[in-house]
Amino acid sequence: MVGIGSAVPGQRVSNSEIETFLDTSDEWIQSRTGIRERRVAEPELTLLELAARAARAALTAAGVDPAAVDTVICSSSSPDATFPSLACRLQAELGCPHGPAFDVQAACSGALYGMVLAQSMIQSGLSRTVLVVAAEIFSRLLDWSDRSTAVLFGDGAGAFLVGGHDQKGAEIVAIDLGADGGGAWALDTVRYRPSEEAPSTPLPEYASSARALDRVVHMDGREVFRFSTKILEQIVVRLAGAAGIEPNEIALIVPHQANSRILATAAGRLGVPFERFACNVERLGNTSSASIPLALAEADRLGRCHDGELVCLVAFGGGLTWCGVLLRWQPTAVGIDDPGDLDTNLGIAGREQLPSQDHKEVSA
Ligand SMILES: CC(C)(COP(=O)(O)OP(=O)(O)OC[C@H]1O[C@@H](n2cnc3c(N)ncnc32)[C@H](O)[C@@H]1OP(=O)(O)O)[C@@H](O)C(=O)NCCC(=O)NCCS
Repeated sequence: MVGIGSAVPGQRVSNSEIETFLDTSDEWIQSRTGIRERRVAEPELTLLELAARAARAALTAAGVDPAAVDTVICSSSSPDATFPSLACRLQAELGCPHGPAFDVQAACSGALYGMVLAQSMIQSGLSRTVLVVAAEIFSRLLDWSDRSTAVLFGDGAGAFLVGGHDQKGAEIVAIDLGADGGGAWALDTVRYRPSEEAPSTPLPEYASSARALDRVVHMDGREVFRFSTKILEQIVVRLAGAAGIEPNEIALIVPHQANSRILATAAGRLGVPFERFACNVERLGNTSSASIPLALAEADRLGRCHDGELVCLVAFGGGLTWCGVLLRWQPTAVGIDDPGDLDTNLGIAGREQLPSQDHKEVSA
């Protein structure tokens, strides 16, 4: 993996803002999920634009021309069209050559499914440089009157650039990939049935506009919680076993950012200190398939990825699907496009061009 990119909308929506139109509280949301705020796409921002921003962040940081990308793989659980694929539209938007372009659907595991596919295509000789982009605008897939789901998700995009011409980056050591379709019912989408009653307080634009494909998220939270904690633990144990090490020898675990209670529970079961988990769900919520590249880009910028150490990526989500990738870290170019970055100073904060040389020098 030679490059990582991430992009988020500038609009920040706090729990307190949601409290004004939904029967919930900042206290409930923070104590059950760890989420304090999330990013929500402005009305004019499209999924394609968000995906393109993350892709350009990765390409620019790695110094790779879009013309060198011979395969584009995208993931989105919140698509704005059934076809053409986001990948085909992104290929044209970036000006990549006419190699294969397709979407994978693996819900929150999509970015890692894409990374595994990229590696297979490179190893088989089908491709040389693969761009994997996960982009989500979940705010348009939520029923904002359903408090059991509306408070959990956020918008964002992340990209992995895999392969390249003689470039170095993090290396894939082991993979754990799977699905259990028998659990599909626990996390899915249903037809949107807007309430016929007029809201008692005015709704913000993101909560009152039409839903992207007239469908919304539906979830059995307890079942998903059970599955997530169990599979996270199992993946880390299996990947450690494949590498011949103990789980607590992994330097950094970058899990899907579902909620911090899931991560803390899994950390406890594994006997790995929670400090070894990368967690930014507090600021971004659950961004579905975009969450791992977003969290990994941030972790590297914070100086948490060290050369030669093992970094474990763990995804799980609707399907039910899962994917773990164990990486041996090597210097990897990172670009973060965050126009709303007021706290961490990790992103480019409105700069026109991402730096390609000094990407390691930006600190928290
Ligand atoms: C969603 C989740 C936070 C709910 O927590 P929980 O402790 O299981 O809560 P429950 O669903 O049992 O609901 C407990 C109470 O809180 C209420 N509640 C639910 N959402 C609420 C909200 N946003 N604000 C206030 N109260 C809420 C429920 O109505 C219920 O009230 P009742 O006891 O009066 O019936 C938890 O199940 C979870 O984290 N699940 C995994 C979700 C996830 O990460 N999904 C994505 C994975 S990819």
